Amino acid sequence: MSSTDATPETGTSDDVLIIHGGTPLEGEVTVRGAKNLVSKAMVAALLGTSPSVLRSVPAIRDVEVVTGLLRVHGVDVELDGDTLYMDPTSVESAGVEEINVHAGTSRIPILLCGPLLHRLGRAFIPDLGGCNIGGRPIDFHLDALRKFGAVVDKDADGTHLSAPNGLHGIRYELEFPSVGATEQVLLTAVMAKGTTELRNAAIEPEIIDLICILQKMGAIIKVHTNRVIEIVGVDELKGYRHRALPDRIEAASWASAALATEGSVFVRGAQQTDMMTFLNVFRSIGGAYEVDDDPTEGGIRFWHPGTALKPVAIETDVHPGLMTDWQQPLVVALTQADGLSIMHETVYENRFGYTSELRRMGANIELYSDCLGGTPCRWGRRNFLHSAVIAGPSKLHAADLQIPDLRAGFSHLIAAMAAEGTSRVYGVDRYITRGYENFEAKLLGLGAKIERPSTKIA
Ligand code: UD1
Repeated sequence: MSSTDATPETGTSDDVLIIHGGTPLEGEVTVRGAKNLVSKAMVAALLGTSPSVLRSVPAIRDVEVVTGLLRVHGVDVELDGDTLYMDPTSVESAGVEEINVHAGTSRIPILLCGPLLHRLGRAFIPDLGGCNIGGRPIDFHLDALRKFGAVVDKDADGTHLSAPNGLHGIRYELEFPSVGATEQVLLTAVMAKGTTELRNAAIEPEIIDLICILQKMGAIIKVHTNRVIEIVGVDELKGYRHRALPDRIEAASWASAALATEGSVFVRGAQQTDMMTFLNVFRSIGGAYEVDDDPTEGGIRFWHPGTALKPVAIETDVHPGLMTDWQQPLVVALTQADGLSIMHETVYENRFGYTSELRRMGANIELYSDCLGGTPCRWGRRNFLHSAVIAGPSKLHAADLQIPDLRAGFSHLIAAMAAEGTSRVYGVDRYITRGYENFEAKLLGLGAKIERPSTKIA
């Protein structure tokens, strides 16, 4: 069973953060390159015939996982500060066992299919991991790869792919604008024979940044209106030099933490253009922000204005809609708004599991299977509890919490920091370090009163 559908393990006594809540977060944090771009940019380096250099790489577990996968395939990977050097000139096939070391740790391995098929003619993909937020199938990925000409064989070890007749451009329409499946098509089409037309593509900023990287490598990719992307296959790609776009999910998490704890956080590196939808929601709730667009030192300061927060009715969507990964931290902030808020989750069917822990802390949240307050979505009338009604303001109190997945985990941390009393949050090493760089040091820098069981707070 992959970790996508596994019951979260019970936290160990080491993997726990003790949080003394009730202190506003005040100060500054820096966000580096986006987790959702950096791992894909590392995969893209496999396609080059010369080395690539990626800057602003965060120290997170997903980067370690992809580093491990690249290395077993003969890519020389070196990290110097936050700059990653990747030399793919000696790419080679890896054994099932050495690849399977990375099984269940991340969903990124699926994206190695196209690049490995181009470079080696075959690929092996282990069972995937990722967050525990729904079925998370890979049918779009495998369907597109088959249409490109890949032969896909699943067995007990994982998935074996080959391309006996090479890969050829396709006309393909996604059922849903999946981020991963769009990246799969991009990473495969850039070196497939002929032209690929992808309809209903995802156009998240991280995808546009990946397209910029592929273009630097020599690809020809046109982004048309109405979610149509056209890729003209080329015979060879070279390495790239690129600075990853900043992590807008982490930025929004700190913004929500500032609101929920009645604090003020300057998020250095946060970019207005990638966060416009979030900023609109943040302001509608009553949060205050100020953009400093200095190209090197800039960022966005987010703060609680000291007046009552307002309820909102919002829904998550694909870009340019409200990002699903912004949902959980925003819900924590909405527990402090004065009135009834509605959050309709349209991207994942099962992304409200974390609210049961918030309810134990005193939040008033009810879940519904109807599409509340927005456009009917894929999950309506299918018994998926994908709409939440949040009645606030609620006084949150401390609790012992078990983190179920990455984004929900950070929301638990925010809730514990906003709550009165001492909470113990289990699973921080297992989940939070996958996507949040140095989160403990950042929390301490913002004045959070946190400690590990073996340490004393200052
Ligand atoms: C990426 C992000 C994740 C974000 C999500 C949506 C990374 C590493 N992760 O995940 O943080 O929450 O985009 O913005 O970039 N689907 C299928 N079949 C498929 C593929 C997807 O049905 O083959 C469905 C999923 O179950 C989900 C929806 O499409 O309901 C969106 O998933 P997708 O955009 O693919 O998410 P990821 O790329 O996995």
